[in-house]
Amino acid sequence: MRKTLHEIELEHRIPTSTLRAAIHRGILRAEKVGGIRMVDDQSDSFKTYLAEYKSRSGRELEEIIGEEVEGKFMKNGAHHGITIGLCNQKGGVGKSSSAAAIAAIFAERGYRVLVIDNDPQGNVSLQLGIDLLDIEVGPSYGTVSDLYLEKAVAHEVAVSTGYPGVDLVPASVDLAEVEMMLPGKSGSDLRLSMALRPSRQYYDLIILDSPPNLGKFSVNVLAASDWFLIPVNGPWALRSVKALLAVARKNANYYNSNNQFLGLFLTMVDRTRIMQNVREVAQESYPNHLFKTEIRRSTLARESEAMATPLPVYATDSAVAEDYRTMVNEICQRIQLPEPVGS
Ligand SMILES: Nc1ncnc2c1ncn2[C@@H]1O[C@H](COP(=O)(O)OP(=O)(O)OP(=O)(O)O)[C@@H](O)[C@H]1O
Ligand SMILES: [Mg+2]
Repeated sequence: MRKTLHEIELEHRIPTSTLRAAIHRGILRAEKVGGIRMVDDQSDSFKTYLAEYKSRSGRELEEIIGEEVEGKFMKNGAHHGITIGLCNQKGGVGKSSSAAAIAAIFAERGYRVLVIDNDPQGNVSLQLGIDLLDIEVGPSYGTVSDLYLEKAVAHEVAVSTGYPGVDLVPASVDLAEVEMMLPGKSGSDLRLSMALRPSRQYYDLIILDSPPNLGKFSVNVLAASDWFLIPVNGPWALRSVKALLAVARKNANYYNSNNQFLGLFLTMVDRTRIMQNVREVAQESYPNHLFKTEIRRSTLARESEAMATPLPVYATDSAVAEDYRTMVNEICQRIQLPEPVGS
């Protein structure tokens, strides 16, 4: 019997975003009836897909998907996902681990979150438990490359992670090649922004991770971000803020986009003199944008990375997870984020 994706979602508890991704990848067959995509739930294609989906590597699917089907949107009814980019062209400053941590905390508070991995290293995907080298799950997944190549929009390739309320558009190594294929024209700087536009309605927040350079993907992240956030873990990371702000400003003028500087925050903070000096210079240079909250240095960060689990989930009661929760409070204040529905 032919059913709409929504009917399949309700009956089998598979999110429509996941169904769309499978259709896009050619794993699940669908046909358009009167402009609406329908799936035959008696077909072999659907039965095979369902069996594969249900058996997917030990996740608590029922529990996870139960949350997703309910959905939780903001009370103001705007249903317009706010995009927050994490940028710093300096490598290893805490972009990906912070993106995963922040996403997990927003989800813990009832927001529907989408994370977009814009780095061929795929670190934030890994931190959220999605490894595209895992052949068992690999072929079923669309990736961020599809967005840059204009083959799909974000929610069509978003997959559910093991964390209730957090979806992900993963990255794989082929993204490195995609960068070379992108034309030099200005429109290619807006591909991510365009691919997010129809997807914003499905999420409260969209967190964008970026690579350690100021190339095409970082420029796309800046253009697609309503707000951008800069992690700083030392003097070199602080030095790069100026250049990053200049690029962001130039882009905002050029594309008439509204990417606002949400702020910079200190991470991997220890009691060294160097860190004290970084704090003082940051305070002096960016008095209105330096976050009050600092993220402490902790070995738990690396451990949670090795366990492919966001830090606040891996070490829920740790001091560093608490730092991230306080930071999310500060983000909420700064962007005046409405409460999620059902809170
Ligand atoms: N609070 C912390 N304390 C100690 N180590 C941390 C902390 N936060 C992150 N790290 C570690 O620092 C390293 C770099 O972090 P991360 O990968 O998040 O940085 P990044 O800016 O995304 O790097 P890249 O530029 O390569 O994408 C990781 O090994 C991570 O586990
Ligand atoms: Mg990273």
